[in-house]
Amino acid sequence: MRALNFSPGPAGLPAPALERARDELLDYGGTGASIMEVSHRGREYEAVHEEAIALLTEMLGIPSSYQVLFLQGGASLQFAMVPMNFLAAGGSADYIITGTWGEKAYEEAKFIGNARVAFNSITPEKQHLRVPRPHELSIDSRAAYVHLTSNNTIEGTQFFDFPDTGTAPLVADMSSDFLWRPFDMSRFALAYAGAQKNIGPSGVVVAVARKDFIARGRRDIPKILRYSTHADNDSLYNTPPTFGVYLVRNVLAWMKEQGGLVAIERRNREKAQLLYGTIDRISSFYRCPVERESRSVMNIVFRLPSEALEERFVSDANKRRMIGLKGHRSVGGIRVSAYNAVSVEDIRVLTSFMEEFARANG
Ligand SMILES: Cc1ncc(COP(=O)(O)O)c(C=O)c1O
Repeated sequence: MRALNFSPGPAGLPAPALERARDELLDYGGTGASIMEVSHRGREYEAVHEEAIALLTEMLGIPSSYQVLFLQGGASLQFAMVPMNFLAAGGSADYIITGTWGEKAYEEAKFIGNARVAFNSITPEKQHLRVPRPHELSIDSRAAYVHLTSNNTIEGTQFFDFPDTGTAPLVADMSSDFLWRPFDMSRFALAYAGAQKNIGPSGVVVAVARKDFIARGRRDIPKILRYSTHADNDSLYNTPPTFGVYLVRNVLAWMKEQGGLVAIERRNREKAQLLYGTIDRISSFYRCPVERESRSVMNIVFRLPSEALEERFVSDANKRRMIGLKGHRSVGGIRVSAYNAVSVEDIRVLTSFMEEFARANG
């Protein structure tokens, strides 16, 4: 029996996407081999690769002026690749820091060139509890780009509107934000996401970038690190993570069957409402530390009256086959990651457990 999986990433994948992989594992389409055992330049894999790109393009309504890329090295390599490609000597890039991952992206940029902090949500207690209001940002209109983390996986905060950066191109780490709802790609010059939350397994990064922005990338860096290399070769410059891309295809096909991003967003909002509703209703026991307007729909964080109770909560939930609930070690508490593969029913099971746990321990 599969567990109710609330892991932050790698996260649970939709069962139909995994079942399809199981059914095709030993013999993909009559080839007598699995898709991971055949050439990435062969007909079978190329069809999968193209289908994944087509599904993504259709579901997000990606304009033809953009290109979808499959990359490797995790979102963390993007922290380095973005400044390597776009931060030229003498230039400057702006960073909106709203959590641990944004801090890491900023730190990487500083190795390459001049990185400026356009906003930092850190409190004197070293916590990140909210995203900025537009008037709080100090954007340099000549910045090579402005980088933000659209959902803060660890801290449980999220951007619902994206800032207007004027002439400065907007670059977003959307690792835990990508594909939970429709969004307007034309607001971004580049959006990237490690797949291991809403899209597929770890090992694949999906990036969507404006073609003219890619073309601006520096040519004095190794080829493998240039976006243009991957774009010019349709993400087949070197061997891509073929099995990962295949699973991404299965997940995207499942999403389309679910009614696409509009239907998926409706479910995700219902899940978040159920969780925050429970936390707020039992406010003598549960407390969400983040600002209300910044509360993430994907990663719902909360505290209990003591760390001992938090530990017991995680272990009692585990006994009921609910996994992945422990908050990130840097912030503690409980974190419910409610990505697309988590159903409304899964959340109902969890919220009734929360009610019961509060009654028994409150
Ligand atoms: C928002 C965000 N950015 C970046 C990362 C780092 O991703 P990776 O481990 O793929 O490098 C994570 C990982 O959880 C994340 O949540």
